[in-house]
Amino acid sequence: MKQRIMSGMRPTGKLHLGHYLGVIDNWVKLQDDYDCYYQVADWHALTTKYDKTENLRQDVIDVVSDWLACGINPEKSTVYVQSLVPETAELHIYLSMITPQNWVERDPTLKDMAKILKTKEGMGTQINYGLMGYPVLMTADILLFNANLVPVGIDQVAHVELTRDIARRFNNVYNTDFFNEPQPKLNNCSLICGLDGNKMGKSFNNDIKISDTPEVTAKKIMTAITDRSRIKKDDPGHPDECEVAFKYWKIFGSESDINTTRCECENAQRGCADCKKMLASKINERMAKIREKRAYYEEHPEVVEEIIRNGSQKARSEAQKILKEVKNIVKMY
Ligand code: TRP
Ligand code: SF4
Repeated sequence: MKQRIMSGMRPTGKLHLGHYLGVIDNWVKLQDDYDCYYQVADWHALTTKYDKTENLRQDVIDVVSDWLACGINPEKSTVYVQSLVPETAELHIYLSMITPQNWVERDPTLKDMAKILKTKEGMGTQINYGLMGYPVLMTADILLFNANLVPVGIDQVAHVELTRDIARRFNNVYNTDFFNEPQPKLNNCSLICGLDGNKMGKSFNNDIKISDTPEVTAKKIMTAITDRSRIKKDDPGHPDECEVAFKYWKIFGSESDINTTRCECENAQRGCADCKKMLASKINERMAKIREKRAYYEEHPEVVEEIIRNGSQKARSEAQKILKEVKNIVKMY
């Protein structure tokens, strides 16, 4: 029997290259060796954006479209939406009963959010009950499929640790070994920075979307930071101080692309504008197939919706089995 994997992503709308290289590509590679459950965490979105839901439905479709375009295969993996698997909420209730309050209070993500909220004024400056329970909700996501492994970024590891703690606590309280203690599975790919050298993120306006056209990609790449000390084309450049463009070359170029770029840059044989034009072509080449698929799903949202419905149905029937066991263990009526 294959080991089980569960992971999720918030519906933030169209995804960027950071999502693709940092998360989705990794998910794609796991599909053959594991029984994978990939979730769009729409309830998680509500924990902070309960008052901004106008685009939520479209955001869910966009996220799933990006996953599918990148190679998530619904024949292999179960692709679903959290709120379409309401068993999640029911498991959350049972887990919330056994989770000490200070376990969620010490969650680093929540602490950060509290700090940010305190600097604002008016509505939404306090942590709502739902947000407080978010680490337990994520635990419910994972334990609902009794996953063995949770592929996440480093920022989510604390949550998976909490999941292990809660799983162990449940097993102790009810004298069972029902729940696995799932392990975080870190991927070892290097993070792609944004066009301005900071972390790539939608809200920082420094991202390249998976679904961006080649033209938009090229235009964005032209804004990428290079070697700040290089003023003129005949100044020798310093690839290692080229903050963004050369880093992208290292991600998207072949060994020989990278060597040639380094050499021509250091010998002032290539200007930064030309260099970035070439880089944009490289990126567009790599993304071409994915974008073709992406455009298909953009034109056929009904196909995406069908995949979501089927996947969520499949996830539900598995979830119901686990939940039945849990209720038995807790001795519910
Ligand atoms: N909390 C994760 C994030 O903000 C998303 C998420 C929701 C998740 N449920 C999950 C990740 C379950 C892993 C497993 O990015
Ligand atoms: Fe960076 Fe290329 Fe300019 Fe060199 S030539 S500084 S690698 S953009």
